[in-house]
Amino acid sequence: MTLQGKRILLIISGGIAAYKSLDLIRRLRERGASVRPVMTAGAQAFVTPLAVGALAADKVFTELFSREDEQDVGHIRLARDCDLVVIAPATADLMAKMANGLADDLASTILLATDKPVLVAPAMNPKMWSHPATRRNHATLLADGIRFIGPASGEMAESGEKGEGRMAEPLEIAAAVEALLDTGPKPLTGRKAIVTSGPTHEPIDPVRYIANRSSGKQGHAIAGELAWLGADVTLVSGPVTIPDPKGVTVVRVERAEEMRDAVLAALPADIAVMVAAVADWRVASASGNKIKKKPGEAPPPLLLTENPDILKTVGHHPKRPKLVVGFAAETQDVAENGRSKLERKGADYIIANDVSPHTGIMGGDRNTVKVIGKSGDEDWPDMDKQAVAERLARLIASHFP
Ligand SMILES: Cc1cc2nc3c(=O)[nH]c(=O)nc-3n(C[C@H](O)[C@H](O)[C@H](O)COP(=O)(O)O)c2cc1C
Repeated sequence: MTLQGKRILLIISGGIAAYKSLDLIRRLRERGASVRPVMTAGAQAFVTPLAVGALAADKVFTELFSREDEQDVGHIRLARDCDLVVIAPATADLMAKMANGLADDLASTILLATDKPVLVAPAMNPKMWSHPATRRNHATLLADGIRFIGPASGEMAESGEKGEGRMAEPLEIAAAVEALLDTGPKPLTGRKAIVTSGPTHEPIDPVRYIANRSSGKQGHAIAGELAWLGADVTLVSGPVTIPDPKGVTVVRVERAEEMRDAVLAALPADIAVMVAAVADWRVASASGNKIKKKPGEAPPPLLLTENPDILKTVGHHPKRPKLVVGFAAETQDVAENGRSKLERKGADYIIANDVSPHTGIMGGDRNTVKVIGKSGDEDWPDMDKQAVAERLARLIASHFP
């Protein structure tokens, strides 16, 4: 009963996936939550308030201008008397209203009036989801702190079209509710994890450096997910411009040597996930002063020397963590290079990805990875980096029963 005593306000809007919200109500209630349903006019064209109310064992709210419910400004009460607002399915229309602060029916008015966390499970045709207007609304809602679960890729119920837009499954939504309310299982409680993230900056002189395109998005998301699952996480981060993940200790470094020292200082640990794009080389002797451009002289040569291999150091260290995971950014022969790294670096898993420019992975929001383990490879579908982080954190947790 992970959601015992939790009050969920479930807003159902007018999409074909509304039939799945009936199952969602059951899933939430069997975890101990109470579910108060609100339906848009559109939702009532797909499922009846009778079915929704019977499964929720509660009154279904549908009208803003209701004589009975608004005597005490019922929409404000609905917006506040809950622990979490869930919208499943969320139509493109309702997302557009939310993003723009519209409040012309009960659901949208509650969404504008609530001070509770909001979890959105979008469901729509792939063309609607990829439309620039929906992209803008999604970005606005994310920036407003609204949480999303899905949509997934797959076949659409009504048109047979394929693509991103399918509502997340009720079980996934229930798990996201547990995660948001922080009531889910914490399999990594008592475990210590070290995660590296971001690029390194290798100085040429006091103002110039060699870097790479890593944003830190993947490593930071993994650190955050391990912390969600209860781990005590030290995130050793190169220079990035994204916010720190919640609940982790962040150690900021610039150079690969500093990153190695910070990682070794954080040992012993149970888990090491080396995600940072550590520069392979640094300038052999960085200049203490700014190198001056001299008229008529040839550009200065840059002599490079090898940086420490942090993953290999950790993988063969006397205090090696029980589970060592490395990332391998490749542009060629992703699987072969990944597998040979597994052996050489003493890792339990290599998460290999193709970072060729056409993939947009380096610095982007999505990732397509191959998980190379001792007993075989697994191709994960294209997902956003947060979803990769969630799945990887669950895989890691499965090693700590
Ligand atoms: C058969 C049918 C299926 C629909 N499925 C969806 C859907 O999956 N997602 C969506 O965003 N809109 C869908 N629509 C369009 C919405 O119902 C429409 O935009 C409506 O105005 C949404 O109202 P609401 O957001 O107030 O519920 C569908 C419409 C029809 C007629």
